[in-house]
Amino acid sequence: MLVCFEGIDGTGKSTQATLLEQRINEKAPGTAIRVAEPTNSPHGTKIREAMMGAKERLSFDEELDLFVQDRKYNVEHNIEPALAAGKAVILDRYYFSTAAYQGTSGRLSWQEIIDINERFAPRPNVLLVFFLPVDEALQRIDKDAKDAKRGSRSYMERKDTLEKVQAAFRDIHDSGRYDSHAIDAARPVGELQGLIWSIYQDHARKQRS
Ligand code: TYD
Repeated sequence: MLVCFEGIDGTGKSTQATLLEQRINEKAPGTAIRVAEPTNSPHGTKIREAMMGAKERLSFDEELDLFVQDRKYNVEHNIEPALAAGKAVILDRYYFSTAAYQGTSGRLSWQEIIDINERFAPRPNVLLVFFLPVDEALQRIDKDAKDAKRGSRSYMERKDTLEKVQAAFRDIHDSGRYDSHAIDAARPVGELQGLIWSIYQDHARKQRS
């Protein structure tokens, strides 16, 4: 069971992905793992360094290549072994992020980027796409940065960029290619957790029958 959390920065996906993983493991210990992309692979580390420190953005090709290499590593080392062991895999970002972020910044469309990824990356059983007005997402990003005493926004976290990226996530959701659920990220954390848990249970039941 592959469950994928997607959406722009500041929508609370990571919180909800962690809560889902904890809840599954509380019910049946050791049956779920959560993996966040970019990962801690050498490629993922390069991506983070470039994003946080860079005055100038990486080229489109470099950026796309690093995300794809990082994902190949993730599929081979984390996702496939866990699926083979019968575990639920909770993904905090996956190839839909590459489609939405890089697909709105370079020479390939989100559809083309999805096709590149689906040559090696298994499709999720459930896709949860978080939506939030961009101004609200930016307020949350700034508040988190202040609380964590972190520096300013990364080059991805600009209003015009996030508007385009969120529109691409909407297109992916609307495409009907996936078992996709639109999540209203403005709702309270506990309420969202209940909703996501019931979506998860519905899919787990379907898998079993
Ligand atoms: P993020 O999930 O925000 O990591 P963290 O919470 O550790 O900062 O991801 C970092 C940024 O990377 C985010 O702005 C989205 C971007 N990103 C892409 O542009 N393409 C991708 O394929 C992925 C996985 C992330």
